[in-house]
Amino acid sequence: MVGTFLETERLTLRRITAADADLLVELDSDPAVMRYLTGGVPTSRERVETHFLPRMLAHAERGHGYGFFLAHEKASGEFLGWFHLRPDPDGPADEPELGYRLRQAAWGKGYATEGSLALVEKAFTELGAKRVFATTMAVNSGSRRVMEKAGLRYARTFFADWADPIEGSEHGEVEYSVDRSEWRK
Ligand SMILES: CC(C)(COP(=O)(O)OP(=O)(O)OC[C@H]1O[C@@H](n2cnc3c(N)ncnc32)[C@H](O)[C@@H]1OP(=O)(O)O)[C@@H](O)C(=O)NCCC(=O)NCCS
Repeated sequence: MVGTFLETERLTLRRITAADADLLVELDSDPAVMRYLTGGVPTSRERVETHFLPRMLAHAERGHGYGFFLAHEKASGEFLGWFHLRPDPDGPADEPELGYRLRQAAWGKGYATEGSLALVEKAFTELGAKRVFATTMAVNSGSRRVMEKAGLRYARTFFADWADPIEGSEHGEVEYSVDRSEWRK
């Protein structure tokens, strides 16, 4: 596939572009996908186009190879969702955060694990990462399991000061991480 960022056995990941708004709107239109992100509220097209997509694209401009990547299934060409690997805008440039959001039709096939393992490897072997971390709501057991299967380990629980808290946020957020030295083992 043209512009492929990485390929796994079953997935291709390519860098997100300004032409991908429709796919993002469709992905965020499923309340089940948005359960642990907004409490199930879909993202409006206006918000995707004026807020999220520009921010997703901006990560690539910081350099280092990080950013947001759309995943497609190799066998069918179907859009599956996205992964991100990018430092916190206020954090160290060599400590990228891993994230993922897949369409419901793609769940339960090991795709989040497959894409995450490949991104963590790329972070340490090609992109010069010192540490990879990921965060989610403590109650998002699916996401926590993906983090573990991608080689990250539980680091801490923290409580964010949300303006509009969603169900389950009273249990806090968790961070998982792995250092380059630990990952080599
Ligand atoms: C969380 C998410 C990425 C998981 O994707 P997936 O491709 O189904 O995950 P995988 O198939 O790689 O599964 C990895 C492991 O997690 C487990 N798992 C996945 N979803 C689960 C769930 N809802 N509850 C409990 N375990 C779950 C799987 O059983 C598997 O573990 P196992 O091998 O021990 O059985 C997907 O459900 C999703 O995109 N959800 C909506 C967005 C979201 O919440 N993103 C994370 C926000 S931080």
